[in-house]
Amino acid sequence: MKRVPIRRLFATYRPNSFHYTQSPSPSWQLGQGAPEFLEKHASIPKKTWIMSETSSKDTYRILTSCIVPRPIAFVSTLATDGTPNLAPFSYFSMVSHNPPLLSISFNLSPKRPKDTRENILSTKEFTVNIISEAFVEAANVTSVEAPASVNEWNLSGLTMESSAEVKPAMVKESHISMECELHFSHDITDLKSSEITNTLVLGLIKRVHVRESVLTADRTQVNPAHLNPVARLGGLTYAKLGDGFDLARPSWKTIRETVEKKDKTAS
Ligand SMILES: Cc1cc2nc3c(=O)[nH]c(=O)nc-3n(C[C@H](O)[C@H](O)[C@H](O)COP(=O)(O)O)c2cc1C
Repeated sequence: MKRVPIRRLFATYRPNSFHYTQSPSPSWQLGQGAPEFLEKHASIPKKTWIMSETSSKDTYRILTSCIVPRPIAFVSTLATDGTPNLAPFSYFSMVSHNPPLLSISFNLSPKRPKDTRENILSTKEFTVNIISEAFVEAANVTSVEAPASVNEWNLSGLTMESSAEVKPAMVKESHISMECELHFSHDITDLKSSEITNTLVLGLIKRVHVRESVLTADRTQVNPAHLNPVARLGGLTYAKLGDGFDLARPSWKTIRETVEKKDKTAS
């Protein structure tokens, strides 16, 4: 299939200024759905990708642009000879808080190993650092597919800070750094051949370091207005955090009466 090059008009970069807003439909009522949205979009056909008939390249393209925004783990490791390594990974998520686990998945190609994967599997230690807008260019350069001997810290100009429990350094510029130990790893193979295409790693978070300036007033969690994290979208696109809004978690106690009334009217 011929690819259509993406042309963009670039506006000047404006630093994020996060605000809390109302939710999109503050007067939304139980059972209301989204009729106006549906009316606008329902007649537009959907294109379908049948995964078993889609090439790995096209699967990558469609999934990495569908599953968005993805947080980015900026991972610092050491090779067995002590060479430091730094690289970003967006197949990254929180797995559980008890125990505190995060996941990272490495896409492998027969052409070259992922040094971060090799280092984590052999040394069992790494740090995950969160990238803020202000140093995203420096972080992005560390994704260069350089030989294992190249120290990406030097390319980025970012600063090492000693960790307390693990040997790999933390990124001093990061407002948030997590010291991790390898908890579990699993190689994932191609469904048709036995070729290893991915390795899933679970990291046990030993310590979380958060700069005081990005904490909420009660110092128990991170204030998104001050973190300015970046996320990964499809292709080469990164995203900043937009505005935030709170939505109360629905409680059965509160909605029960309305639901039961509605059910009675319907029957
Ligand atoms: C924002 C961003 C996110 C990335 N996410 C992943 C990922 O989740 N998994 C992966 O295998 N590679 C990912 N990459 C590519 C790696 O960063 C790249 O292959 C890098 O060279 C790996 O470095 P290493 O060999 O030193 O570990 C990503 C690159 C960028 C720029």
